[in-house]
Amino acid sequence: MSKNLSQLSFRQGTEKNLFERMVAAADAKGTAEIHDDVHRLGQESLFGDAITLGAVSAYDFLKAENAHKKIFLCNGSACLCAGTQEKLHHDLEQHFPAEEIGHICCLGRCHEGAAFQYQGKNYSGLSPEAVNQLISSGQGDSEDRYAVVSHLQPAQLTAPFSSIDAYYAPFKKLLTQDRDSLAAELKDSGLRGRGGAGFPMHFKWQSCREAPGSVKYIVCNADEGDPGAYIDKYLMEQRPHSVLLGMMVAGWYAGAETGVLYIRAEYPDSVRIINEAIEELHAAGLLGSNILGSGFNFTLKSIKGAGAYICGEETALLASIEGQRPEVRTRPPFPTIEGLFRRPTIVNNVETFANLHAILSMGGKEFAKIGTPQSTGPKLISLDSHFVKPGIYEVAMGTPLGEVIALAGGFKTAIKAIQIGGPLGGIVPLSQVDQLTVDFESFKKAGFLLGHAGVVSIPESMPMIEYIQHLFQFTADESCGKCFPCRLGSTRGKELIAKARGDSSYKIDRELITDLLDTMEQTSLCALGGGVPLPIKNALQYFSAELEPYFKN
Ligand SMILES: Cc1cc2nc3c(=O)[nH]c(=O)nc-3n(C[C@H](O)[C@H](O)[C@H](O)COP(=O)(O)O)c2cc1C
Ligand code: SF4
Repeated sequence: MSKNLSQLSFRQGTEKNLFERMVAAADAKGTAEIHDDVHRLGQESLFGDAITLGAVSAYDFLKAENAHKKIFLCNGSACLCAGTQEKLHHDLEQHFPAEEIGHICCLGRCHEGAAFQYQGKNYSGLSPEAVNQLISSGQGDSEDRYAVVSHLQPAQLTAPFSSIDAYYAPFKKLLTQDRDSLAAELKDSGLRGRGGAGFPMHFKWQSCREAPGSVKYIVCNADEGDPGAYIDKYLMEQRPHSVLLGMMVAGWYAGAETGVLYIRAEYPDSVRIINEAIEELHAAGLLGSNILGSGFNFTLKSIKGAGAYICGEETALLASIEGQRPEVRTRPPFPTIEGLFRRPTIVNNVETFANLHAILSMGGKEFAKIGTPQSTGPKLISLDSHFVKPGIYEVAMGTPLGEVIALAGGFKTAIKAIQIGGPLGGIVPLSQVDQLTVDFESFKKAGFLLGHAGVVSIPESMPMIEYIQHLFQFTADESCGKCFPCRLGSTRGKELIAKARGDSSYKIDRELITDLLDTMEQTSLCALGGGVPLPIKNALQYFSAELEPYFKN
């Protein structure tokens, strides 16, 4: 069934994209008023009401229950650990009735805390006076300020941008070369995907290049939903051309003519800045038909998400662009064979694409000299508000984690653990930090996960039981619902912890929770249900004394 829907959606294509029109209807009329538009789109596309209404019900920003909310508070892990949201909520209650205050998950203002979205703009770290001024006059400081530090000589991903002419010189040169020589550079570079799984980039690109089909796509996964991560946000807002260049190289290599950036709606500035950068490329003659007389045709467009964490999972993301409910698809077939509209597609993370400039400029072998033999290249890490100098840090893969913490001046509050890699990343107690280097192998060997490398600090004052309840809650809220180990398991886990916290006579059976976590880990369809047991097991292992009162035996 969903295959037929993909074909129907293909008829609308990326130009008259169905999902984009659903979101546009909500932007124009408000989510309560989109029923007629969604019905019309269902008729026009031949999807029918059940499919289109089912799809819109999956997104926070399209849900009728959020229609009358005027202001949205961030409820991501970094703001939770910053301890800022209760007071902010209280301050906002002076201006809005409770039913007008909504929640939103992670605005990427983790370096400051106290984050919220108001009238389509993001704010963080405002004083109560500044909040009052914003609400009463509509005027407020929404600028996003954080440190950007490179530990690399010379800087790569954070290097200053000079001009389109200079920056795209390696791409222009590429257009005159043959694709096999790029294949060798990609392989030599050893670049592995930065979205979390660390999959070798050249395999993916090669597979799409060799896949049969005249229509192929390049998709940039810019749905950075991990609370604590604002790496992709930084790249899109401060180095947008690094991302676009990487997508153009992928298009040329694989024979795709269309690139789509799926950017989360929680990042309105990223959407705007990427669109401006695309316009700049058109003006420079670097997009369109027969680019610089090379015979290569390529267009880029951005599609704004609508508030669903699962859209970061690549197959759910593709279903979302197609206007279907964002449910995870079984693999194989992998997206390189059957991706967007069931056509061969390369899906890569923002940061993965951003590395292409360095690979083209210095060559794959030189690139591979940065980092470790298995985890090559530079890596960006985002640090939250508990650091003395929160921000984006660029290091070579393999850099000791302790060195990154020292670069940021250490912590300004008492911290007991850090969670790296989003809600599915490991919870690393401070005692283990010195054992870790920033690369996939080191984290895996020690029983953690580097993931995308957003860092959330868990302060001494945050009860670990509350933090693991938050992780179960997050998974229960964001589960796509396709498989029951995740859908039910996350809810049962949340209930068990809530019960133990609310009733001191109730203790959680350790065998029961271990079975629950093992079942989720081993039988969930994707790494949401399959991944959340890792940090919870880390917490149970390293914080057993603190958690003891909630467990039997
Ligand atoms: C629940 C879940 C959420 C994910 N969120 C993201 C995300 O926000 N951004 C991202 O690039 N990859 C995310 N991924 C990984 C993607 O599925 C996919 O592996 C990635 O986009 C591939 O790009 P890469 O090879 O460049 O890493 C997520 C995976 C899962 C299971
Ligand atoms: S693990 Fe969760 S998010 Fe992933 S497919 Fe199953 S229900 Fe969906």
